[in-house]
Amino acid sequence: MDSGKLKIDWARQYMPVLTEISSRFKKEQPFAGKVIGMALHVEAKTANLVQTLRDGGATVHITGCNPLSTQDDVAKALSKESGVFCYAKRGCSVDEYYDAIDAVLDAQPVITIDDGMDLIHRLHTARQDVLPVVIGGCEETTTGIHRLRAMASEGKLKFPVIAVNDTPMKHYFDNVHGTGESVLTAIMATTNSLIAGKWIVVAGFGYCGRGLARKASALGAKVIVTEIDPRRALEAFMEGFHVMSMHDAAHIGDIFITTTGNRDVITGKHMALMKSGVILANAGHFNIEIDGKWLHDNAQSIEERDGIHSYHIGDKIIHLLAEGRLVNLAVPKGMGHPIEVMDLSFAVQALSAEYLARNYSKLESNVHDVPDEIDRAVASYKLASLNISIDLLSKDQEEYMESWDMGT
Ligand SMILES: NC(=O)c1ccc[n+]([C@@H]2O[C@H](COP(=O)([O-])OP(=O)(O)OC[C@H]3O[C@@H](n4cnc5c(N)ncnc54)[C@H](O)[C@@H]3O)[C@@H](O)[C@H]2O)c1
Repeated sequence: MDSGKLKIDWARQYMPVLTEISSRFKKEQPFAGKVIGMALHVEAKTANLVQTLRDGGATVHITGCNPLSTQDDVAKALSKESGVFCYAKRGCSVDEYYDAIDAVLDAQPVITIDDGMDLIHRLHTARQDVLPVVIGGCEETTTGIHRLRAMASEGKLKFPVIAVNDTPMKHYFDNVHGTGESVLTAIMATTNSLIAGKWIVVAGFGYCGRGLARKASALGAKVIVTEIDPRRALEAFMEGFHVMSMHDAAHIGDIFITTTGNRDVITGKHMALMKSGVILANAGHFNIEIDGKWLHDNAQSIEERDGIHSYHIGDKIIHLLAEGRLVNLAVPKGMGHPIEVMDLSFAVQALSAEYLARNYSKLESNVHDVPDEIDRAVASYKLASLNISIDLLSKDQEEYMESWDMGT
């Protein structure tokens, strides 16, 4: 059997929530006759989401959402599935990346599923010809939601989009535990470096950053957090992390990980202060957090090995992983988030796509929250799959929680 198919089947064993949803979709066919267009990281967990949507009656056209994150064997296995067309290729050029996005749009998708908003951006710029057929979209990540909200606030978003990232069953688990574990795993597998005893600098103490900081600390690292938000900086401080500016952290850190969703977080001026041998990695969506151009322009020589570029600057070496692209998916050994975490995120995606298919005519062209019943249903499915039962509210408790006149 081919390696892509084996990876997809391996992941499916640990995706009980998506499996349950697939069985219902097979019977109910919520996407019968519909084309779904996707730009997501094409790897084994995503393939299971694709199969679930296809089982629900959709024809799925998919490409990658990052030039380095596609697993080619999974893409090949997906292309062999009935009702699925896959255009993703690892290491594609920027032109090839957009050609593949155009191929998805040529299929006239009625629902879009994005991770980072490149598909929706293309639809609202170069490919407005496809806009009339689209009934709605779903967005997977923080950066995509930022871009969508900016678009909506300028009145430029032309269809409803569900903010999958913003629902608790996504970001409490995916961003915190998924990014936390998979980023450290990718760095360790690529560099073979010890985490214990190292100074790890985490830029951004959002959902991803706090997961990373906690897990690095659990492995014995001394963690420094940099922030621009005073409340988040204080939260990090009270969780026991060192908090300082990137300028101050630059002298100390051994491994630097950016996860802000912002640009220019580590620049040449910081790199000039760093020790020799430091490792730089980015976990944010786009490769603009670490100034790779500065490294390139200032290096006397550059060595390349699997997932690592080593820049020699005078007598100093700085190692950049995955060309500054999101490290947990873009290094050759990156497997992305753990399967169980993506089971939850993709269950929310599948149910949000179903919600769009059934309710799009009632939704205005804006960014919408995932309905709370969907979020709770995913949590309940997961608990049931773990054989965990929880207490139920009694009638008295329910009344008490809703009342205002029962005091001392
Ligand atoms: N690698 C992955 O698999 C993965 C998974 C989920 C999300 N993401 C991406 O990671 C990024 C962060 O996501 P999140 O959910 O943690 O977002 P978030 O909004 O919860 O957190 C981002 C934090 O970065 C801080 N920040 C912004 N600019 C900064 C700067 N210049 N210096 C220091 N801190 C700064 C913000 O104040 C905020 O606290 C986004 O780009 C998101 O799309 C990646």
